[in-house]
Amino acid sequence: MYKLVIQGGNTLKGEIKAAGSKNSSLPILFASILANGPIELTNTPHLSDISTTLRLLMDMGGEFILESSGALCVDSSKLTNLVADYSLVKTMRASILVLGPMLAKYGEAKVSLPGGCAIGTRPVDLHLKALRDLGAEISVKNGYIYAKSKQLIGTEIHFEQVSVTATENILMAATLAKGTTTIDNAAQEPEVCDLCLCLNKMGAKISGIGTSVLIIEGVKQLNGISYAVCPDRIESATYLVAAAITGGCITVKNIRHQSMRAVLGKLIEIGADIKTRNDSITLNMKGRRPKAVNIKTSTYPNFPTDMQAQFTALNAIADGHSSITENIFENRFMHIPELSRMGADLTLEGNTVHYEKPPHAHKFASSQNGLRFSS
Ligand code: UD1
Repeated sequence: MYKLVIQGGNTLKGEIKAAGSKNSSLPILFASILANGPIELTNTPHLSDISTTLRLLMDMGGEFILESSGALCVDSSKLTNLVADYSLVKTMRASILVLGPMLAKYGEAKVSLPGGCAIGTRPVDLHLKALRDLGAEISVKNGYIYAKSKQLIGTEIHFEQVSVTATENILMAATLAKGTTTIDNAAQEPEVCDLCLCLNKMGAKISGIGTSVLIIEGVKQLNGISYAVCPDRIESATYLVAAAITGGCITVKNIRHQSMRAVLGKLIEIGADIKTRNDSITLNMKGRRPKAVNIKTSTYPNFPTDMQAQFTALNAIADGHSSITENIFENRFMHIPELSRMGADLTLEGNTVHYEKPPHAHKFASSQNGLRFSS
């Protein structure tokens, strides 16, 4: 979509179904390279990153069908071109996830370095070091990663820093390695768990799922399967924050609230009534203005960086002083100048955003349509 036009001043209310998780769907689509047959996925979202991933897989010889049921059937079992080209990789950093599976299945891969990124430098050194630990020969020339290995060999891998996609890349590579691989300081994000569950359904042997130590016993081959991708916790939480900002009441369906504890805790702190049911959450602000909250982003199960911007917007109309510290990406603040242009009193100091305006300096006024923020 070229642009969104938002008419403000309305209270958000009603019911909405969250889509399947983007950050689960992407690694699982790349995991299709490891299988010896097609993978049928349900609950995948319709997003440009999904189209980019499919284009990348097609470019390498994969095939896909969008079934009338909405399921996505992907066959990447017989790739003919083992090159992930810059033209596609530069548009989506998660394309680096092609590296581990391609190397493990075909013994070689040429993958473009992802290039620049708006939220920070985002290097891939952790991915490359861990693949070398598995015995791969890796070189970087003219903007491309060249990886080779007749047979990856299981080993003990320690990540110096927690990385979601590095954990996913290495665990995918390790499924077809000879022997056992242990990944220490692995990311524990629900999307990593979803990938592990999918790989195990394909025939992999991964244990320690959901902990910081993953143990992968290599197998000879993985099979095609059907799999339902987990719901998108970031999309769900974004709807809840949007409703909270307007003093509204909404129910979000297709969620797993167990994976949203840190965010739900903050929504309770701002003054929202939260009701969780089996697969839905209802947030009700009862027309109240939110209270500002202090937040520090971190790795799962702590507060996610992907919800930082939404809570910064919420703090901009909330009562009280607050600060939000971004600990994952050094430059994830592009929204700050835009919020300032809209009148928000935010200042950025290092990696912390302060909201300084004293309480009640602006009105949270009732209008015919609901509540609106006015300076
Ligand atoms: C994933 C998510 C993204 C989320 C992020 C953090 C996907 C597709 N994307 O991104 O939505 O915001 O996790 O939860 O799942 N780092 C290195 N070297 C590396 C790899 C990472 O220094 O080789 C650093 C990064 O610059 C960053 C930190 O590690 O500072 C964490 O990044 P990482 O977890 O890797 O983020 P992504 O996996 O790219």
